[in-house]
Parts: sequence; structure tokens; C-alpha cells
Amino acid sequence: MTVTLGTPLSPHATKVMLLGSGELGKEVLIALQRLGVETIAVDRYDNAPGQQVAHHARTIAMSDPAQLRALIEAEQPQLVVPEIEAIATPVLEALEAEGRVRVIPTARAARLTMDREGIRRLAAETLGLPTSAYKFCDSQEELQAAIDGGIGYPCVVKPVMSSSGKGQSKLEGPADVAAAWQVAMAGGRVSHGRVIVEGFIRFDYEITLLTVRALGADGQVHTHFCDPIGHIQVSGDYVESWQPHPMSSAALAEARRIAEAVTANLGGQGLFGVELFVQGDQVWFSEVSPRPHDTGMVTMITQQQNEFELHARAILGLPVDTTLRTPGASAVVYGGVEAAGIVFDGVDEALRVPQTELRLFGKPESFAKRRMGVALAYDADVEQARHRAKQAAALVKPRTP
Ligand SMILES: Nc1ncnc2c1ncn2[C@@H]1O[C@H](COP(=O)(O)OP(=O)(O)O)[C@@H](O)[C@H]1O
Ligand SMILES: [Mg+2]
Repeated sequence: MTVTLGTPLSPHATKVMLLGSGELGKEVLIALQRLGVETIAVDRYDNAPGQQVAHHARTIAMSDPAQLRALIEAEQPQLVVPEIEAIATPVLEALEAEGRVRVIPTARAARLTMDREGIRRLAAETLGLPTSAYKFCDSQEELQAAIDGGIGYPCVVKPVMSSSGKGQSKLEGPADVAAAWQVAMAGGRVSHGRVIVEGFIRFDYEITLLTVRALGADGQVHTHFCDPIGHIQVSGDYVESWQPHPMSSAALAEARRIAEAVTANLGGQGLFGVELFVQGDQVWFSEVSPRPHDTGMVTMITQQQNEFELHARAILGLPVDTTLRTPGASAVVYGGVEAAGIVFDGVDEALRVPQTELRLFGKPESFAKRRMGVALAYDADVEQARHRAKQAAALVKPRTP
């Protein structure tokens, strides 16, 4: 469906609400602002990055059904765009069913991807896509039994509700099981725990395949793919990404087949980040975000339309162009310090690295391992772009004022 664009702050405004307003939401909001959309940035804390660029900022507990429903009913946006997983998704399903809002891409997609169980069972059991071997467990005893019963070592344990590697461990043998259970219980979004244990995949590399479901001139949804994004994760958190990542034509075709199947089932319009593991020509589905992906920040320097612009266009029913402009790379700038209102030294030196750009997200508070910015670089040679991005990121020195 195509949304009619109006004038913000007028009776004919096109209103879009972002649920979650971090660095990814901020860029979606900027893309929407450029099309004259009236934006409402919601987060659980004040002055979140996206709240700084939106028409309206609202702070609520998005996991609280009553608060979420009250806010959506008061603001009456045409579109609700989840940017994070920790949302009271049953409220979104109810409001969508009542015809009150359109949820991006669909309320069902938001529910299925908010925990690892919904999306894994859909991909592996309903769609029959290749994934790692897995089991869901509710106690340390069940975890041990699942490993002994066939998952084996090495394996990976993750809370079903967690992101950015939180609460995740790799287990090499029986001695690691108790600690992994404890780490998962402490790192999940909800304290009472359920975990997934997955067989460890010895992949050659992993990619994010940004996949866009957008309306064509025929009024039908068509699937578009960006070039594959390679990335490196440290403790389950992204530190570096680049585009394009070279793939064999067989592996690329299989990656696209998997991405098309899972996004077609989730439905709706918008951009998805499909995470895949690759070994030779073999491809495994890992997980999917029904929204822009952190590793896709590289597209701010590599694509004609970056992943945020693609998402904004797709959700509004506008045409998209996934063409790569140049190879490039991104490298994360971590806070390094634990403080509020930090300052950044070395930005001038960082930007003296040729062919680079920098985004500082404006997060009010820094933690040692909090992502505070990202360095971007382009180069005809992707390895050279990676080198430049890392060099620029390392020159930025966050410090307490
Ligand atoms: N079964 C697995 N085999 C090998 N590596 C894995 C496996 N599961 C996760 N990983 C590694 O950990 C990273 C984070 O895992 P992921 O499931 O994507 O969690 P999150 O939701 O926190 O991003 C992956 O990108 C990959 O590098
Ligand atoms: Mg992931």
C-alpha cells in the first residue's frame, strides 16, 4: 500500500512512530523527515539519538502493554515502525487487527522475531530452511540433556530474549555448561530463563543480506537484494562490516533463496537484515531483523540509497534502488569510558584519513562497550576500505569532559 505524503504539523500530516530511537532509528527518522513525514520518536530513556531529530519525542516503557497502547491511541500514527525487539507485540497485533495502525513490516513479524524461538521454528520447521541443529531448554539439566542427546560440542547457548550477544556463550565441553547457563540467565531480557542451544557452525564467513520488500509499478510487492555485507562479531557484537563480500554464485543464489523465503513469510513492506552463515556453497539461516541491521550501517557510504532510506521508501510504498555505488566498510567507535555527556577527541585526525566519514550518535551516556559512533570508508578495494575505516575509528577518542 502506498501512503499519501502530507505536510508535517498540519491536519494532513503523514505520521510515523518509531518504537526504539537508537542510532538505526535516528537514520530512519532522518530519511522520513526528508520526505516531509511527521515523526514521533519513542524510547525508554530521554534524549535517545532518534529523539534528537524527530518532530516529537516520547519516553515510555515499550514492553508495557498499557503504556504502549495508550501512546499509540493518543498519537494516532498511520505507521508504527519497531526498531527494537523488546516491545509488547500483542498490543501491536491487537491494534493492527482493529485496523487502527499498520505495523512495519507486520505485527506478526514483530512478534515472531522478538524471541529466538518464534523465528527459528518458522525458518527450520515451517519453511524447512537449513539452520544449525538446535533445542530449547528451560533448565541446566535440560540443556545438558540436549547437548548429550545430539547437539554435542562445540555449541552456542543464548537466552531466547537477547540481542548483541548478551548472555551468549560458546561451550567447548561439559565443564562449560554450568557457567553458560548462569551467563544466559543473567544476560537475557527477562530473568526467568529459556535458552536455545545451537550446534556450532564452522562457517568460512557470515553475511547480512539486506532484503527489501517494496511495491512495484504493478502494485505488487517485489523482493530486492542489496550486495552481501561481510562482518566480524566479537562476543556476539558487530565491530566491523564491509560491502560487497565476495560469494560463489551458488552460495549467493542459495542465500537469496533463503532470504526470499523467510521475508515472504513475514510479509508486509520494508527492509530486512537476513543473517546467514556460509561454508563453500552451503548456506545456513541464522536470524533476521525485520528492520535495518547494525552491520548495514556501511550502506551509508556504499549504496545509492542506504538501508535507512530503503526502509523509509519501502514502508511508504515508494520505489527502491539497491544499487551499490562503491565498495566500502564500517568500524564501530565504542565509548571506552563510563560517563554521561562525554566528549570526542581526534575527530579531525580521524576525518583526515582519506575517503572516510564519521557518525557520532549523540547517546547521552557512554559505557565501555556501548556503540557511540561508526567510522565509514570507501575504496575501490574493499580491504583498503576496511583498513581506512578501522584507522579512522581508532583515532576517535571518547573521554569524560
Ligand atoms: N550456531 C552458531 N555457530 C557459529 N557461530 C554462531 C552461532 N550462533 C551465533 N554465532 C555467532 O554469534 C553471533 C551472534 O549470534 P546471533 O544469533 O546473531 O545473536 P544476536 O541476536 O545477539 O545478534 C553470530 O553473528 C555469529 O558470529
Ligand atoms: Mg545477530
